[in-house]
Amino acid sequence: MNIKELIQETKQRIEDIQIETAKELEEFRLKFLTKKGELTELFNAFKEIPNEEKREVGQLLNQLKQSAQGKFDERKEVVEESVGEEVKYDKTLPGVNVSQGSRHPLSIVQNNMIDIFKQMGFSISEGPEIEDDWHNFSALNFPENHPARDMQDTFFIDKDISLRTHTSSVQVRVMENEDPPIRTISPGRVYRNEAISARSNSFFHQIEGLYIDEGVSFADLKQTLFLFVQQFFGEKTKVRFRPSYFPFTEPSAEMDIYLGTATEEDYRLTKGTGWLEILGCGMVDVNVLKNCGIDTEKYSGFAFGMGVERIAMFQYGIKDIRTLFENDIRFLEQFKSLG
Ligand code: PHE
Repeated sequence: MNIKELIQETKQRIEDIQIETAKELEEFRLKFLTKKGELTELFNAFKEIPNEEKREVGQLLNQLKQSAQGKFDERKEVVEESVGEEVKYDKTLPGVNVSQGSRHPLSIVQNNMIDIFKQMGFSISEGPEIEDDWHNFSALNFPENHPARDMQDTFFIDKDISLRTHTSSVQVRVMENEDPPIRTISPGRVYRNEAISARSNSFFHQIEGLYIDEGVSFADLKQTLFLFVQQFFGEKTKVRFRPSYFPFTEPSAEMDIYLGTATEEDYRLTKGTGWLEILGCGMVDVNVLKNCGIDTEKYSGFAFGMGVERIAMFQYGIKDIRTLFENDIRFLEQFKSLG
């Protein structure tokens, strides 16, 4: 083979070589482009050829060198890029787990309750958690130094300021600021200085309702709460009202729903009676209406209040109230599908 044929043959081989990996690229470099490579050998042979052929062969050799270098540069770029891609998109790696949040069980229950009252035309009102004596107690007909204040073990900040013990305080604010008809519910967090146990915590959540208009009666109260219970607990749910006492309502009652005692859990929850107390209610005391500037000749109203935790615990079979506030993901994740 003369040198021209050799150059042609080498050129063809270089063109035919497949370079896909970094290893193949390096092999190519060693074979053709280093001092000990094939091209150097050809350049050495070039020195031996007769002068009249040098011009033509020299050109061919330069072209060969350029195409070898060109191929190396081009493949280098491709190989390096694909190495990067392999790292970025290694399809065999396990996926990154994007964990999705979920609503807190208390929010789920609270939202369900709010939806029902909204349908009945109740608005939502909110107020401060740090409250003055007037809105939490005095306006609600708790006489000063009256033992009724002990019913709600209060966290006092100073003599006149405390953490609200119920969201009835919000309703006082609504009555002071709005004219009847008033139809509102106040959801929110409340605080009581109670010994912490599986059944009670130093804070919890309430939804309280207030309806004031001309001619509102106890029958309206019963019907509203009955409708709520049917929608929330199911149409066949039985309820009963028991007489009770609250300073701000007269007459006052507590409402129970009937669970029966068939299961051990229902027996435990209802202390063997079959009835579970879910809320307090009553006709707003005339003194409260007066304190809030409402014309008692014209208007009357009812109020009710219930604890969200108690109902959530009953609905989801939660045995310890404290689990609601520990934010243990393993607990919270169980409510994913509900909210
Ligand atoms: N505020 C009462 C409580 O916290 C509940 C209640 C509200 C009772 C309205 C009667 C009427 O226990």
